[in-house]
Amino acid sequence: GKYRVISTKPMPGTRWIRLLTDQDCRVEICTLKKTILSVEDILALIGDRCDGVIGQLTEDWGEVLFSALSRAGGRAFSNMAVGYNNVDVEAANKYGVAVGNTPIDSRGLNAMGVKYGPETSNIELFQKHNAFHVSLALCGVLTETTAELAASLSLAAARRIVEADEFMRAGLYEGWLPHLFVGNLLKGQTVGVIGAGRIGSAYARMMVEGFKMNLIYYDLYQSTRLEKFVTAYGQFLKANGEQPVTWKRASTMDEVLQEADVISLHPILDKTTYHLINKERLSNMKKEAILINCSRGPVVDEVALVEHLKANPMFRVGLDVFEARSLTYDEPHMKPGLADMKNAIVVPHIASASKWTREGMATLAALNVLGKIKGYPIWSNPNNVEPFLNENSPPPA
Ligand code: GLV
Ligand code: GLV
Repeated sequence: GKYRVISTKPMPGTRWIRLLTDQDCRVEICTLKKTILSVEDILALIGDRCDGVIGQLTEDWGEVLFSALSRAGGRAFSNMAVGYNNVDVEAANKYGVAVGNTPIDSRGLNAMGVKYGPETSNIELFQKHNAFHVSLALCGVLTETTAELAASLSLAAARRIVEADEFMRAGLYEGWLPHLFVGNLLKGQTVGVIGAGRIGSAYARMMVEGFKMNLIYYDLYQSTRLEKFVTAYGQFLKANGEQPVTWKRASTMDEVLQEADVISLHPILDKTTYHLINKERLSNMKKEAILINCSRGPVVDEVALVEHLKANPMFRVGLDVFEARSLTYDEPHMKPGLADMKNAIVVPHIASASKWTREGMATLAALNVLGKIKGYPIWSNPNNVEPFLNENSPPPA
């Protein structure tokens, strides 16, 4: 291979490797037996010659690594993640390194008329179309999987699945009782979505259609597709003699917090969303509300959350992500007391963890790097992503 491409972790599947090796790249996969690589580990990997890197959300991609990559001749970096709060995009730009992430927008799919499913071979697609089209075809690779986990946590919290499972295994079940693990009925309740982008909208549709919940959402941009979906489903229910579902676009986030029974957070993490959910906002929620976070830990003030869980035993949370010291990564640690709370469900950042999605993310990350090295247009560039709470950004096309 003419180009040296590094992956800081072994990634699922082999398609991403073939994709690169078929296109003049030599792929080197780091095999260090360490969950989280340090900046020094990665510097050693980059060495004096490296054309592109596929990295992970656990790594601190800042000034030091981008200047080293640039010195080694590298011009491409892709995070194998939709979130890129671990990447200093400005520093990358300064050193002439293009940055990719692995989100993907389902708009592209229909626009290009490219079908992509778990069985489709990326190589075939790549040969038939070009990298740009294939990137488009991977649209939604992470969206539904992440939304499905948010939905799983919502149901698990509403029906107290984890507590009930622990009770059963502990041999405490003595027979059916009218009040044993009574939870919430979601039907007819209101689901609140903070950040109705790709993942937030997919989650909203699942909860509305799957469980006949009403929707209230907060986002800087109006999601007309989502509104139309709920309207149409409401009409369908009405025509069948059922209570129709409704939607509302809230003008403030607090409106969502006050009205919703289940609230799911889907913003990106940046300075404007750090501790978006704090003590005061927690106290604005219903006493029996359910809060779900599959975005990034620091969006929630976790210390305030533990206090709130202690003071409000009927309040429940489902967390896939945990607070960090900085905007980069410190996830394995939970704040003191969280692990003891019966009204908290905690899972280890698995929202995108389906086989198809993780393989798709790996392929997309490879395409991002390949696209830059070979001069194909890069689709999934975080520079195209609008900051969540920046009132001055123009609406996306
Ligand atoms: C996972 O958290 C991701 O950002 O892809
Ligand atoms: C519960 O099992 C019921 O039959 O109501």
